[in-house]
Amino acid sequence: MSEATAQPATREPATGKLSIGVIGSGGRGINCFGKLLAKRDDARLAAVADANAVRMESAAQMLQHDFGMARFAAYTDIEEMLRGEKLDAVIVTTPDYLHADHAVAALREGVRHVLVDKPLATTVEGCLRVTRAMQESGGQVMVGFNMRHLPLIARMKEIIANGDIGALMLIENREFYDGGRTYMARWNRHYALSGGLWVHKGSHDFDVFNWWNAGGDPLRVSASAGLNALRADKIPFAVEPDVPVGPNCSSCAYKDICPDYAPPMGGPNLFNSDASAVDGYVQDTCVYLSEKDTHDNGIALVEYSNNVRASHMECFVCNFTDRFYTVVGERGTLMAHLANPTQIELRPRWGDDKIIAVPPADDADAHGGADPLLLDNFLCGIKADKTSSTSSSPHFSSTVRDGIRAVAVGQAAEIAWREGRSVAIEELVDWRDSSGSGATSATGG
Ligand SMILES: NC(=O)c1ccc[n+]([C@@H]2O[C@H](COP(=O)([O-])OP(=O)(O)OC[C@H]3O[C@@H](n4cnc5c(N)ncnc54)[C@H](O)[C@@H]3O)[C@@H](O)[C@H]2O)c1
Repeated sequence: MSEATAQPATREPATGKLSIGVIGSGGRGINCFGKLLAKRDDARLAAVADANAVRMESAAQMLQHDFGMARFAAYTDIEEMLRGEKLDAVIVTTPDYLHADHAVAALREGVRHVLVDKPLATTVEGCLRVTRAMQESGGQVMVGFNMRHLPLIARMKEIIANGDIGALMLIENREFYDGGRTYMARWNRHYALSGGLWVHKGSHDFDVFNWWNAGGDPLRVSASAGLNALRADKIPFAVEPDVPVGPNCSSCAYKDICPDYAPPMGGPNLFNSDASAVDGYVQDTCVYLSEKDTHDNGIALVEYSNNVRASHMECFVCNFTDRFYTVVGERGTLMAHLANPTQIELRPRWGDDKIIAVPPADDADAHGGADPLLLDNFLCGIKADKTSSTSSSPHFSSTVRDGIRAVAVGQAAEIAWREGRSVAIEELVDWRDSSGSGATSATGG
């Protein structure tokens, strides 16, 4: 691979639009970023790289049919795309274990702006590889922490930063997720591919804690987790001796009686049978029988340097989806939950309770409105960098430092529950160098 220095953003002369490349033409790459780019007039999806050519073709047809989008250049070889296209930015949306390699490849090929969907990598060591490539190339990396752009979460950050509840003491999040399908039927159920669910999914939540508690650094993590319900001995119906279950919902003999039956999407889609024939990737693996080494419920406790404690409970065995937040400061308490995203309850320690109204997001279907705002922040950062007379970092809402901190907490939680002990963050990362990302080296884990 050739080394190249990152170039400032350039615009395609004919359209004036930023040229964006996406690595990974799956759910996030196409159904999120591809569709959002189709609606923008300042950027275009110029190229896509994915190991699965059939999936890319489905994506091209879907974007053309639904949005009138011009065909993007499709590559099955990522480096070929990076060398062959003049891209202003690349968005990495491959499975988590590939993030570091793909971000490093983009930076080394001279792409100046890279958005890596969360998590930045599956380990602190992977995050630091991205950081080093960024420093060597002069490129910029943003992490796809879309929760920061949820209006409710962003408003709570403002209230906390304003000092309206005083110095923080406690943060609690209880997360419930409807059904196990998202986490138990796909690649993310494998620790080697996702870093475990405390990293894959929990990094969202740990980032929110780290962001809200701006005055402290995560110091120590304890966690307990387990696979209680989504396992072979908990199939919720009677199984006939000669009639096997699964292996997928679509082929299962019990589809009429299984309460968790969820067929793959019908019609043309990215995960149709032609695309699956290429790589064997199906999304309706039986959530009970699927081989997995991740948890379906757990609790993690994070201790911070500023005498703040945060707990995150997550459960993927429920009939509803929500996150319930309580943030306690020395002068008041905030309470809110995502299913009611337009209000926050402020309970001052002395005085009357208040309801703080939060304006609804424009497009609540896009992860509560967070995804369009995330992309907007990335594109604005690129444009700010282009017009800036200095080469300082654009104003991305989340940086590699944020990415490392969230992964460090998630990785510590994985070690904590697997080894049955609490884990000091300094076991994983050395923060002593305050330049750049603020981290110089991985220290083990
Ligand atoms: N921010 C969020 O809210 C959010 C939500 C869901 C997923 N994510 C993240 O987005 C990323 C993608 O998740 P997804 O649900 O879209 O996954 P997905 O399975 O839908 O898509 C992944 C794509 O990567 C491709 N791919 C796999 N291996 C490849 C390789 N070696 N080279 C090139 N392409 C390869 C697959 O063919 C597939 O098209 C993950 O990192 C996940 O953690 C973020």
